Amino acid sequence: MAEPYISGELVYLRALEKSDLEACLRWMNDPEVTQYILMGRKPMNATREGEWIAEQYRNDADVVFAICKKVGDEHIGNCGLNEINWVDRFATTGIAIGEKSCWGKGYGTDAMRLVLRYAFEILNLRRVELAVFDFNERAIRSYKKLGFVEEGRLVERRYKNGRYIDEILMAISREAWGRAKR
Ligand SMILES: CC(C)(COP(=O)(O)OP(=O)(O)OC[C@H]1O[C@@H](n2cnc3c(N)ncnc32)[C@H](O)[C@@H]1OP(=O)(O)O)[C@@H](O)C(=O)NCCC(=O)NCCS
Repeated sequence: MAEPYISGELVYLRALEKSDLEACLRWMNDPEVTQYILMGRKPMNATREGEWIAEQYRNDADVVFAICKKVGDEHIGNCGLNEINWVDRFATTGIAIGEKSCWGKGYGTDAMRLVLRYAFEILNLRRVELAVFDFNERAIRSYKKLGFVEEGRLVERRYKNGRYIDEILMAISREAWGRAKR
């Protein structure tokens, strides 16, 4: 099992391992989880999930972490940065707590706080962006608490749960993150 890479109040982030594949596969085939993300439009199998994990560690534009509870070390979800742009110094972030019993208990906000610390303090980025579906109130609440602000809305861009929904674009700058930390 990989060692903690960066540690928060409730969770720590570590590298995602091949041995994590089974849990990831379960989450990525759970419609209650995938309704909130761009997965779930076809079944995920072990080959494709394994390739995804390997790819994250092969290139410099993506970083994925396993989110683990500090108490008990349980792996409850994944988060990370994608499409890191080293010239303009921004990246897109994504997160999914796959263990549904762990929703709404502060783990996601704590994990995203670590991703931001990683992005700004370790990678020296200046902006972190994300897209969230309009009905995902829990996620939006969590992101706003961390200092993300809405910068745009792509109207009826996605089809989820049988209807078209808006995609909200949010971002946090390095300065806003510094202010939110204080
Ligand atoms: C989104 C996600 C990362 C948030 O993490 P979390 O650990 O569940 O959330 P937290 O407990 O840290 O914070 C959620 C906040 O929203 C509030 N909340 C919880 N459930 C809510 C709901 N159904 N509606 C509105 N707000 C809600 C909480 O009270 C909390 O705010 P507070 O601290 O001011 O009370 C997690 O729920 C998740 O991974 N969900 C499934 C996949 C997903 O949505 N990924 C994000 C895609 S953009």
